Amino acid sequence: MLRQALLVASRSGGARKVVETAPFTGDVVRRFIAGETIEDAARVTGDLTSEGLLVSLDVLGEDTHDKGHAEANVQHYVELLERLGAASLGTRAEVSVKLSAIGQTFGEDLALENARRICAAARSASTTVTLDMEEHTTVDSTLRIVHELRHDFPDVGAVVQAYLRRAEEHSAELAYEGSRVRLCKGAYAAPTAVAFTDKEEINKSYVRCMKVLMAGKGYPMLATHDPRLIDIAGALAVLNERDADTFEYQMLYGIRPQEQRRLAAHGAQVRVYVAYGREWYEYFMRRLAERPANLRFFMRSLVGR
Ligand code: FDA
Repeated sequence: MLRQALLVASRSGGARKVVETAPFTGDVVRRFIAGETIEDAARVTGDLTSEGLLVSLDVLGEDTHDKGHAEANVQHYVELLERLGAASLGTRAEVSVKLSAIGQTFGEDLALENARRICAAARSASTTVTLDMEEHTTVDSTLRIVHELRHDFPDVGAVVQAYLRRAEEHSAELAYEGSRVRLCKGAYAAPTAVAFTDKEEINKSYVRCMKVLMAGKGYPMLATHDPRLIDIAGALAVLNERDADTFEYQMLYGIRPQEQRRLAAHGAQVRVYVAYGREWYEYFMRRLAERPANLRFFMRSLVGR
């Protein structure tokens, strides 16, 4: 109930105004958002990579209904990738892109064309792009775009959302040689016709997908903070005789940072998803929806304690 309410609020203009202007919002937001500028992103990327962690950078600004805004987002990604290229980090720092931020609302052709421009900039910087998965209504379109892009950019990462009833099917289709696939639980509100809503059902689906991906020939990117799922991932790596460099764990900036470092210290590859930019509201509300403790922390900050 609370999760659904927060996800609905993430799309509400009125709620956005209240949250954005609340006096202590900034401190709480900074826990999950790396900052507002490319300089902030570069600084955090430098800190994380110097600790042996990998990074995927997300420029906030999703669900754009303005072509000029979509173009500005593409240009921002290109500039960011030039900056990453100059730092010679290779695939240690890649980018994550939401197609809704670069024109998907105006049709698949514009989103595909803009994604190509970002992929070309990533190639020049010797790094990769992963296309985030968003609302369930856009999943088929996003998978078609991944498929198209992979003709020219085979290293484009795809995302499977375990809460979708078709997640296992998506995993099987994507578990081929060279295919980079992020597996996450899924962060959006979705109807029961297309998605599991019970936590345990979602966890079971995550395990089924992970089994397919870890047994397959692709490169699984296991995005979760869930200790049980992380343990199962470790066991599946042993079972499938996977070396540490044939898959990676992924977690969000600001969530379980000690666990990120613990896994890396044990030789695992761990990528931190770092979101930055001025348009943090929707991303931030999804983080609150995931965990009541995050919400309590936020509410306390609103009343200044
Ligand atoms: P969940 O939220 O159920 O938490 C499970 C357990 O993890 C908790 O019980 C607790 O033990 C631990 N935990 C979680 N948060 C914690 C915290 N703050 N402190 C301490 N312990 C905590 N979604 C999507 O729809 N499309 C996408 O493209 C992506 N991309 C993406 C990339 C990366 C790198 C990550 C990590 C996540 C995504 N997501 C996503 C979001 C994802 O779908 C999901 O909403 C969140 O990761 C939360 O799910 P968990 O797997 O962490 O489990």
